[in-house]
Amino acid sequence: MTVRSLLLQTAIVVIATTSVAQAREAKPAPADAATRAEKTLARMQPAEKTVLTHGIMPLPLGPKSPPLPSGAIFGAGYIAGIPRLGVPALRETDASLGVSYIMGLRHDGATALPSGLAMASTWNNELIEQGGRMIGGEAKAKGFNVLLAGGANLMRDPRNGRNFEYLGEDPLLAGRLAGHAIRGIQSNGIISTIKHFALNGQETARKFVDVKISEAAARESDLLAFRIGMEIGNPGAVMCAYNRVAGSQACASDWLLNHVLKQDWGYHGFVMSDWGAVPGLDAAMKGLDQQSGAELDPAVFFSDTLAKEARVNPAYAKRVDDMNRRILRAIYEHGMDISPAKPGGAIDFAANAAVAEDVAKQGIVLLRNERNVLPLAATAKRIAVIGGYADTGVLSGAGSSQVQGQGGPALSISLGGTGSFAAFLTQSYHRSVPLDAMKALAPQASFRFRDGRYITDAVTAARQADVVVVFATQWASEGLDQPDLSLPNGQDTLIEAVAAANPNTIVVLETGGPVLMPWLKRTAAVIEAWYPGARGGNAIASVLFGRTNPSGRLPITFPASTDQLPRKSVDGFAELEPDFAGNPPHGTMPLIADYDIEGSDVGYRWNARQGAKAAFPFGYGLSYTSFTTSTPQVTGTQARVTVKNTGDRSGATVVQLYLVSRAGKGMRRLVGYGRVDLAGGASATATIDIDPRLLADWRDNGWTMPSGRYAFAVGSDAELVGPTASVTIKERRWHDPSL
Ligand code: BGC
Repeated sequence: MTVRSLLLQTAIVVIATTSVAQAREAKPAPADAATRAEKTLARMQPAEKTVLTHGIMPLPLGPKSPPLPSGAIFGAGYIAGIPRLGVPALRETDASLGVSYIMGLRHDGATALPSGLAMASTWNNELIEQGGRMIGGEAKAKGFNVLLAGGANLMRDPRNGRNFEYLGEDPLLAGRLAGHAIRGIQSNGIISTIKHFALNGQETARKFVDVKISEAAARESDLLAFRIGMEIGNPGAVMCAYNRVAGSQACASDWLLNHVLKQDWGYHGFVMSDWGAVPGLDAAMKGLDQQSGAELDPAVFFSDTLAKEARVNPAYAKRVDDMNRRILRAIYEHGMDISPAKPGGAIDFAANAAVAEDVAKQGIVLLRNERNVLPLAATAKRIAVIGGYADTGVLSGAGSSQVQGQGGPALSISLGGTGSFAAFLTQSYHRSVPLDAMKALAPQASFRFRDGRYITDAVTAARQADVVVVFATQWASEGLDQPDLSLPNGQDTLIEAVAAANPNTIVVLETGGPVLMPWLKRTAAVIEAWYPGARGGNAIASVLFGRTNPSGRLPITFPASTDQLPRKSVDGFAELEPDFAGNPPHGTMPLIADYDIEGSDVGYRWNARQGAKAAFPFGYGLSYTSFTTSTPQVTGTQARVTVKNTGDRSGATVVQLYLVSRAGKGMRRLVGYGRVDLAGGASATATIDIDPRLLADWRDNGWTMPSGRYAFAVGSDAELVGPTASVTIKERRWHDPSL
């Protein structure tokens, strides 16, 4: 078997939940798209060759905002089409978690999926693909044909403000899920991006922080996540990132864009910039194909300036043709001219909300359950519910990914301030009320809600109740990182006091990422509900009362303390004012984020290297039933594992296959996974595909698997693994094949 076929095979996981989904609309074959692009390019007048290479942000954001062209919709981006040649305009919306709300300017709502980390906690490729299909359908019905989605950045720091948008810390899991989300979106005959390419690991100083990382470490971690996502999802566009990598802006990085993406990976789609991420015209020669929201950059480089340069410089003229070829090919490949997106399409909001609810239910992670206090008995009499606006809605993350349902948020709490981004810095709650949903599932109980502002009041309510459910929130936003991992606004003290007053205290976390839990030992149960989306309240209630057996598994490490992290704080955080736009405060300020500290050992792999134990490790999650798994039987690039549900309640578990040692060296790497649903008492054999890149290291421009014994084990999380199975492998080397 060739390495290429090995790799292709591994992209298709054999577990039932991860089969290849059928595209909903027939698409022209890629070869046709390339030929058509060539023909259109040949017919383009010189003046038409810079139409597709730059766009605007079609929003009334102030004096710098360009007038809205007819045919543009309020959204993130608009690139004029070329009607003479039948080339459609590109209407872009943010869409990682749903069609974004852009502060209600369009006066419409959309279905909010739970946050990226909630999605990743499902470990369910098919479900995430369904979510993508749902978002793509809504976007198309609103007239959008390019979706700014597919966030595949790895969580290198739990304080990064955008972790909630992404899919965790592991390249295999994040890459596969991003790929499936993209595939789902594009099944609507529209384009999705994968973003932000690459190494965009923090918001502080995001426009100038310079990431230092060895090529090997990058290829084995963040770049691998993108690579896997692109193999599965085949995104029409790649969005390059704000940050610098090895001294170059990512959107003008010859290494990232020309070398890795286009040459090594054979990518034939186009690279669009992030908004305000283009340093100059030269970015075109470094591999950037389209300048997005160009008015946000120092100048509109990819319009007249580009055309002028192309007239006198053959290298630029050649590049301009290549830029057009790539954009046209993506348009044709996804049939965007044949089946155009038009505003006013029908949307089945009820069906779409059911998808969001399903993701929330599968993504909620049960972290602690002492004395089996959960699920709550249908006989519980007096239930106190405290804090977190649980009487109003569920929290969402802020920034460009912010989605709101019809009618807007149930509640918006501004952070204040008067800057141009003040409107973004708002804590918004979706209209799905946990308290109401809990009442509906426990009609026999009497509920008392306390907002948690006053500790004595909350403690009194806790003392008078049989069971207390405390809702705790940690809001996060694009543009801002967290200073630490505490729950803000005194919530840690509140929980401590409530748990001291009532031993049956259950904590429901709605957080953007990991938090520390100094009060943990006092509580009876903890569930991590993340930002649970449009039907989050229902999903939380369903887990609390056992209608849903929790099956989420952490896609990230919850550290025991910030001392376990590779960095003491986010680089630059202590020195800089929080600044949404992220421009250097005093001209140019050098700031290095040294990712060589952890290299490709991100998250649990860093802990394994350090011998550190997490508070809750990657892969962790409890259930209301119990499972046993057999020792894996490894043959070639597959493992067979028998799973048994040893309880009497049906439930799902995730078979997590780890490489635990290689050629005599202990290590911990997730190499394959699959979700298994089982009725009580039932068992099944799962076939898990192993991605050989996770067995290898990047060396001398290719992957190398050293000779020796490779030991594999199934883990209920990254720290707790079962008996190992070993195979002997002879050294293997291969180059990264093209897409
Ligand atoms: C974000 C992107 C987003 C773009 C358009 C940028 O600030 O980094 O993720 O797609 O804005 O809204």
